[in-house]
Amino acid sequence: MDFSSKKFNELIIQSSKIIERWYSEKIRGSKVYENKSPDEIKKVFSLSEKNKKCDPKDVLKYLDNNLIKYSNFNPSPNYYGYITGSGNQIGVIGELLKGALNQNNLKWHSAPANTEIEKISIKWISKFIRYNHKNSAGVFVSGGSVANLINIAIMRKAKGGYNISEDGIYGNQVMRVYVSEEAHSSIDKAMDILGLGKKNLIKVKTDKNFKINIITLKKKIKDDIKKKYLPIGVIGTAGTTNTGSVDPLDKISSICKEFNLWFMVDAAYGGPAASISSLNKKFSGMHKADSILINPHKWLFVPFEVACVIVKEKKNLEKTFSIVPDYLQGGTEKTERDDLMNFGIQLSKDFKALKVWMTIKTFGYNQIKEKIENDIAMTKYAYSIIKKNNCFEPLHKPELSILCFKYKSKLKYIKDSLINKEIIEMIEEDGRVFLSGTVINNQPVLRINCVNHRRAKKDVDFLFNVLKQIAKKAEKKLTRISNNQI
Ligand SMILES: Cc1ncc(COP(=O)(O)O)c(C=O)c1O
Repeated sequence: MDFSSKKFNELIIQSSKIIERWYSEKIRGSKVYENKSPDEIKKVFSLSEKNKKCDPKDVLKYLDNNLIKYSNFNPSPNYYGYITGSGNQIGVIGELLKGALNQNNLKWHSAPANTEIEKISIKWISKFIRYNHKNSAGVFVSGGSVANLINIAIMRKAKGGYNISEDGIYGNQVMRVYVSEEAHSSIDKAMDILGLGKKNLIKVKTDKNFKINIITLKKKIKDDIKKKYLPIGVIGTAGTTNTGSVDPLDKISSICKEFNLWFMVDAAYGGPAASISSLNKKFSGMHKADSILINPHKWLFVPFEVACVIVKEKKNLEKTFSIVPDYLQGGTEKTERDDLMNFGIQLSKDFKALKVWMTIKTFGYNQIKEKIENDIAMTKYAYSIIKKNNCFEPLHKPELSILCFKYKSKLKYIKDSLINKEIIEMIEEDGRVFLSGTVINNQPVLRINCVNHRRAKKDVDFLFNVLKQIAKKAEKKLTRISNNQI
């Protein structure tokens, strides 16, 4: 299946030209999203049952014509959806090199450089976010959802007993985990998958700034102990998905100490902001966590996918995940080697560390910090625009890079909930910018996430110009509907 060197080289050049064009033409292109239907996309990419062989040059040409057209080009600064990182370009090159090397990091000797680069990158990330512990260790996984699953699996055994490996959870008291009601849904999923049960994830009310209420948290734990439940841990969120709030981590850590609970921090999104000196106080206590997760594919600007689980004590990874059958024995007697299969669920595992390492090596601490600070500044800039415009209303002050707000129509018969829902749909149809809505205080609202190292004030100005145009169109549409109903 291999090509001649000449042909391989030509294909790489052809691919690099495609990539280069995406970046030169689409970063601030006319549309970030084309709003195509699943059927349209299926038609373009469908394969015939007896697919005939194709010249790879033609395959690339076909992709050149079609791939970006049917994608949501999230590297663009006109993309504000979910919490999506912007994928830096050296990371893109890392992905190409990774594919070519085809490492399988199941054991040290199957991927020596990969293993050490993963360990070095995780140490660097730990330092960056001020999570410095002599015996800490970590592992790269696909994303924050898997990282939450792994973290809770560790918590479950560390506090629920290692007999769970053999017996399952059946002989145990019912275990309970505590989070704020703003915590990420992947924690519910993890509770489900790990057999702990979603109803044993206790969602504690938040205060007006969307942070966990510490007094309620303590009361819930005490009540559960009285009722013979087994509280095993509290998960603080360092940057909630909805509003970017950081829980009072120091206070959570004290509660965990008082009740002998596992202290875990979901810093999937917000973690990198702990590197900024002016934000140290906000993240105070994060370093005390027994385990933590952080996603380089979000706020370290590394291309998808890569998230990171870090534990204070390496032994907790091994005690939770290590199983070494006969066919995986080779090289295990060399104790200076870490086999990453012992650190998580995966056996076959790719070289995610390369793009992380290349990002760190290329941009260094300071440039990454500058970009994080710029994202926070862009969010504050958006907030200032909203405050100046009485057709918009902010729903909170931005804490990191996320801001929720709503459009307020001057037309009395148009409800806020209706027009904001309509605007979200029309943004998709329009495609010049992309943002995702959410629900705050039971109301559909607009939400922007400003994580993107390419964003400048002119992009935020563009966003609000587009939003105003779309809001006017939505008003016209809702007026028409309202007139027809009379
Ligand atoms: C706080 C938090 N935790 C976990 C996740 C899940 O991360 P992923 O999308 O990488 O699975 C997210 C995603 O936005 C998040 O914001």
